[in-house]
Amino acid sequence: MSEAEPVRSAGISYQQLISGDVVAPPATLTLENPYETSITSVPVTRYTTKAFHELEMEKLWPKVWQMACREEEIPEIGNHVVYDIGHYSIIVVRTETGIKAHHNVCRHRGRRLCDRDGYAASFICPFHGFSWHLDGSLRGITSEWDFPHIDKDNFTLTPLQCDTWGGWVFVNMDMRAEPLMSYLGDLPSHFAVWKPEQRYIEAHVAKVMGCNWKLCQEAFMEAFHVIQTHPQILVGIGDENSQYDAWGNFSRAITPNGTPSPHLRRQPSEQEMLDAIMMRNLDDPPAPAIPEGVSARAAMAASAREGLEAIVGDETPISDACVSDSIYYTLFPNFHPWGGFNRIVYRFRPFDNRHDKSIMECYYLSPFAGDRPDPAPMHWLEEDQPWTDAPELGMLARVFTQDTFNLPKVQLGLEAAQYDEVMLANYQETKIRHFHTLLANYIR
Ligand code: FES
Ligand SMILES: [Fe+2]
Repeated sequence: MSEAEPVRSAGISYQQLISGDVVAPPATLTLENPYETSITSVPVTRYTTKAFHELEMEKLWPKVWQMACREEEIPEIGNHVVYDIGHYSIIVVRTETGIKAHHNVCRHRGRRLCDRDGYAASFICPFHGFSWHLDGSLRGITSEWDFPHIDKDNFTLTPLQCDTWGGWVFVNMDMRAEPLMSYLGDLPSHFAVWKPEQRYIEAHVAKVMGCNWKLCQEAFMEAFHVIQTHPQILVGIGDENSQYDAWGNFSRAITPNGTPSPHLRRQPSEQEMLDAIMMRNLDDPPAPAIPEGVSARAAMAASAREGLEAIVGDETPISDACVSDSIYYTLFPNFHPWGGFNRIVYRFRPFDNRHDKSIMECYYLSPFAGDRPDPAPMHWLEEDQPWTDAPELGMLARVFTQDTFNLPKVQLGLEAAQYDEVMLANYQETKIRHFHTLLANYIR
């Protein structure tokens, strides 16, 4: 950091805010690591050209660790998930010796081996019937007498690296890439208190979006757009006084709730803030009256804590910040798990190998008491379907509708742009600057 005081909004800083909380936050939320020097503008062509998409397919996706599924989606030996990224297709399967990943391509003449998620005792190609065991070793060759030239010990499915953290399964096509744990850096230590492995998929919605995958995820990496895109939530949200940090391959934003937006001309009362937070849906019940001397933030945290303690136990104190704030991490390049007891996890990727369409997925990972509930299956929404067709997302579906209104128009605007670079804010667009700095390490 430079000697000079960093430039920030006039609102209360996040660190000042949490220092007044009733139940103190975990140590990782008191860390600050501003990202001072990096890219401040990005070439428009990163979003608008097939050529850049092809560079990503060649130099990015085959090199990075990607979240392919949750472990709970493949609970039994033989359960598998097909994870597609652009023209690549990957099978993630539970075997007798742990979870493994293979390219989803027959070694004979190349048919895609698995068409969908499911269960298989072995993988049998629907074209001529060559087959492989779950671990990728060869099981059988049709008319074996006709293939004396095949070295059966080495005729395996093409492997990927595969490892797990936090209940997620990650894959990397590069067999020489650094191990997952080293790629993650300190990220697991940030999530240790929140135990993501002890959550289940309560909802999983995927939707085709009419914009580049990076453009889509960047709308979920800052609170800067709240003032214009989601003005209805300004009363109780510290949008402009969010904190932004970056470490290694991951970045973090924390947008506090129960504090007024610095953009507001009039300071709302504590009751007005609580009403705004607890009644974000028109059909929500009225918020309770706040007793004298209690802040909206404390009242909101106390109410959220009540229901949660019975589920997660009292082993870890449930801090005000962990139940109130939006704590959104990004692991490069496309994985966005939220911290605290917010249930959100996002994943973004190109749709159908296109530079101008993407898949946005939202998972709700929820804590549970007793036996692990079955994970919700993916609910797929086409490009012309509104998010509100997924009622399991609750209030968030309406917020996404506001984001989705902008995003295809940003794609259109960029395609029409007669300038070379989009401009990024120094602080509030930290996460986007961090992402593009890392991207430039893969695509020079
Ligand atoms: S292409 Fe798979 S068995 Fe021939
Ligand atoms: Fe948004």
